Amino acid sequence: MSPNNYIYHEEAGLFPRAKGLCCRRISKTKILGVLLFVAIALFILMLSSPHYDLMNQKDDSGMKRHVLPKVTDYWGPASRPGHGSRFSDDIQNNIPVHKKTDLRQRLPQCLIIGVKKAGTGAMVQYLKLHPDIVIADKELNFFDYERNFKLGFDYYKSLMPPSYEGQITMEKTSNYFHNKDTEWRVYSMNTSMKMILLVREPIARAVSDYLQRKLKDKTTKELTPSFEELIIRPKNGKINEGYPGIRPSFYYKHMLRWLKYFPLAQIHIVDGDNLVRNPYEEVHAVEKFLGLPHLITPDRFVFSDKKGFYCMSIDGFNGTRQEQCLSRGKGRKHPDIDEGVMEMLTDLFRPLNKQFYKLIGRKFDW
Ligand code: A3P
Repeated sequence: MSPNNYIYHEEAGLFPRAKGLCCRRISKTKILGVLLFVAIALFILMLSSPHYDLMNQKDDSGMKRHVLPKVTDYWGPASRPGHGSRFSDDIQNNIPVHKKTDLRQRLPQCLIIGVKKAGTGAMVQYLKLHPDIVIADKELNFFDYERNFKLGFDYYKSLMPPSYEGQITMEKTSNYFHNKDTEWRVYSMNTSMKMILLVREPIARAVSDYLQRKLKDKTTKELTPSFEELIIRPKNGKINEGYPGIRPSFYYKHMLRWLKYFPLAQIHIVDGDNLVRNPYEEVHAVEKFLGLPHLITPDRFVFSDKKGFYCMSIDGFNGTRQEQCLSRGKGRKHPDIDEGVMEMLTDLFRPLNKQFYKLIGRKFDW
């Protein structure tokens, strides 16, 4: 019999000590231990919250991404029962993010805004390989055509492909980047819109643009003047900066407009020249930007000697793979440009390119 188990009372004599909390002495160490446990549990809860992940994502430059969780159906509810953070656990496990629930049309949460002739079509085809991405089948020109924009967001949504909860809906219109008013219209729909911008060496881009126009003229049986004739003003022999085929190449000017509305961290810039050389690398970076698991694997890209470009290896019948290249209109042979004109264009773009690099904090080899 231990004396510690009994209490002595003058009248009642010895009686057993009650076992309740009231009579137990709790040591300071125990209290500290409990407090520490609660603090650790709260910390773990905070880390697993999607909002914590979103607000603290950093891009390659170490810059914090500023994401305003406005369109909630993109990122999903703050906590999904039985699921960890989709931006950490799922990526590590390489599992598609979406579950096959709640199939419906949604407004896009990510736009490919341009720039035309920098590889936007290739990027769309590549991203379609990702199970968590759905992309509108054609360019919708919603934000750059006033008459389309006036039809409203419900109209825009009605043009979107259906998506499951957790999938990202995207739309690509390569004219968005260089057309004014587009940026504030996008902002008015969703301030947290994510955007993908492809850029390419600006002179080659302009030549590619010219070839595209030439092809259109062919179909309307018009005779297209040469690139040099269109790009040089006959009156003064200077570059015609108003030529529509060159306008999208003024990246610095257009980017300034977009940055008035969106932080740079919301615009992912793709090196269009590298997309031709190493599509996997660029697509991998886009998956990262979108916070998606890396599911587009290197074996999806097969170089075609015939096409002279990478093509995709897509799923065919009975588990086989088929090679699919972009249409003949993509990857055309460019004409040789007059040396003097090339020099003038190089002089025109050199300072603008430098300003663009400074603005986005990144250099390209042009
Ligand atoms: P060129 O035809 O001048 O070579 P967009 O899709 O924005 O119109 O861009 C077209 C450009 O995409 C092509 O321009 C080509 O350089 C580039 N491109 C990138 N990857 C390609 C691929 N796998 N197949 C064909 N073209 C590709």
